[in-house]
Amino acid sequence: MKNKVTKAIFPVAGLGTRFLPATKSVPKEIMTLVDRPLIQYAIDEARAAGIKEFIFVTSRGKSALEDYFDHSPVLEEELERKGKTELLDVLKQTYMDSGAIAYIRQHKALGLGHAVWCARRLIGDEPFAVILPDDVIAAEKPCLQQMIEAFEESPASMVAAMEVPPEKASAYGVLDVKEDMGSVVSVKGMVEKPKPGTAPSNLAVIGRYVLQNSVMENLDQMKSGAGGEIQLTDAIADEITAGRPVHGFRFKGQRFDCGSKAGFLQATVSFGLGRPDLREELLNYLEDVMHIEHAAQ
Ligand code: G1P
Repeated sequence: MKNKVTKAIFPVAGLGTRFLPATKSVPKEIMTLVDRPLIQYAIDEARAAGIKEFIFVTSRGKSALEDYFDHSPVLEEELERKGKTELLDVLKQTYMDSGAIAYIRQHKALGLGHAVWCARRLIGDEPFAVILPDDVIAAEKPCLQQMIEAFEESPASMVAAMEVPPEKASAYGVLDVKEDMGSVVSVKGMVEKPKPGTAPSNLAVIGRYVLQNSVMENLDQMKSGAGGEIQLTDAIADEITAGRPVHGFRFKGQRFDCGSKAGFLQATVSFGLGRPDLREELLNYLEDVMHIEHAAQ
């Protein structure tokens, strides 16, 4: 059986209604943190983890996303002519090898599990990664790389995991912990969006997965789960029922929930402060704002 993970699925079919009206014409994955679209962070993380094939599960209205990864000869020529080599480099970093990206349409919004299942033929019989671009993770070693290294050592299906406040657990997939071994947690069950007060722990699933191929087979059953949707969490939990191990992985890094406005703003500030060319100006501004806010109280 192949254990090397070289394929990743990016479910990007969602309508992004939380960001209306922006998402009326711009896919949310194209929205920018400082100057790079969310999807670029996800792609860079996957590349760093050794992913070679990038499978996007899209929907109607996402053509801007496909265009984004295209080469842009006109822009390139213009930058060359003007001698703007730094910008040219920035542009070229977004280029992908020919044939490295595939786009599959999810024709109906039937849930995350269904979106992943749509990529089954391209995945074939290999293990695979899933990255939810809404979850942006700032880390010294990219989160997916941490996970793939752990997977190669102990090849059980694995989900990124993070402690969340108990009152927030119902927004996530939540792990029922069998044994806590520190960064790796062995799991005896998983619940998608547990009702308030019923979560088996406060260890939540974050949008990075490294999965054995059998999870794809579990998705064939098209089981309807939380919210009437086909849930990836349920297909992973089915692994446990079938007697196969599932691990939670406490990654090192800071996760931003860019599926929410507050999370997006926090990520913008944090990534802005991380940029040497912006840091000082932004910091001065934040200090001024804090000062004014305090004075007003
Ligand atoms: C999805 C998953 C959920 C996970 C979350 C992480 O939910 O279904 O298990 O905890 O991503 O961001 P969504 O945020 O799409 O509702």
